[in-house]
Amino acid sequence: MEPLPLILAPMAGFTDAPFRLLCRRLGADRTVTEMVSAQAMVYKDRKTATLAKIPEGDDHCAIQLFGHDPAVMGEAAAMLASGDYAGVSYAHPPVAIDINMGCPVRKIVASGDGSALMQNPALCGQVVAAVVRTVRIPVTVKIRAGWDKEHVNAVEVAAACVENGAAQIAVHGRTRNQMYAPSSDNGVIRSVRQALPANVPVIGNGDIRSVADALAMVEETGCSGIMIGREALGNPWIFAAVGAVFAGQTYIPPTEDEIRRTAMDLVAAIVQDKGEEAGVRESRGRAAHFIRGMRGSARMREGLNRACTLAQVREILQD
Ligand SMILES: Cc1cc2nc3c(=O)[nH]c(=O)nc-3n(C[C@H](O)[C@H](O)[C@H](O)COP(=O)(O)O)c2cc1C
Repeated sequence: MEPLPLILAPMAGFTDAPFRLLCRRLGADRTVTEMVSAQAMVYKDRKTATLAKIPEGDDHCAIQLFGHDPAVMGEAAAMLASGDYAGVSYAHPPVAIDINMGCPVRKIVASGDGSALMQNPALCGQVVAAVVRTVRIPVTVKIRAGWDKEHVNAVEVAAACVENGAAQIAVHGRTRNQMYAPSSDNGVIRSVRQALPANVPVIGNGDIRSVADALAMVEETGCSGIMIGREALGNPWIFAAVGAVFAGQTYIPPTEDEIRRTAMDLVAAIVQDKGEEAGVRESRGRAAHFIRGMRGSARMREGLNRACTLAQVREILQD
């Protein structure tokens, strides 16, 4: 089977610089940052800039932007693409600006951002056009199937985006109202693939938990690339596993020791970035994804929830 690009899905609270770097090292061809607020950038919010940090080695990273006002989106995209913004730091320039048209969270859609944009395909096109006008790197878009099952309009939205210059469309096969259940619908991804010009990549996303799921995504949709989110949180080796099948190679899964060591290295990198207190607090949930299913994982999780220092986390993960 022809190798297709494997992309780490953007996940707020998870796809920070250390995690993206880990996935890139383990076989993700591309990564995407956590979503960055266009409005906050235009207000010159300093904390927001820390989301747009690209470390050495994360050399195929797109920055995701959310918002709904074309002018604000254009202005923020220009700052992100050029890196001309206090606090933004790039070891590698971003390879694309990705526009979030999929986030279902109430607070986001209440402001007209994320998947709320899909209720207005013309506005989707205007947002893309405004961003395309202000940056020289490709502009990509991530959408869902639609708002709800009465309004499955991924094809219309994708076409509006492409007509206005979008270079790639990633589709998560659920509506906004479905949030994360029931299962993602590959049929809608296939419809987008069939509707768009062949030279515009359509990336399939949703519920890829295994190599078999990845192969089914390719076969059922004809997609041009694969985007994996939640499975990677505790199993970043999924990229290597899928990549090996594409390359006709054998995949050797990590040992339990390697999994624990990788979780520990990730926590250490997060602590280095965010400081010990915030880093350890945030890392509790992050490390828990790695130990899921291991013998003694419930006890380890309890320990992680009480841990306050990096040394305590190390002790629990090495126990
Ligand atoms: C915790 C979490 C945070 C997410 N944050 C974002 C985000 O910032 N931007 C975005 O476009 N999608 C976001 N998503 C959606 C994912 O990118 C992806 O579309 C979704 O999880 C389905 O893929 P999966 O089944 O492989 O996880 C998020 C999902 C999760 C679970």
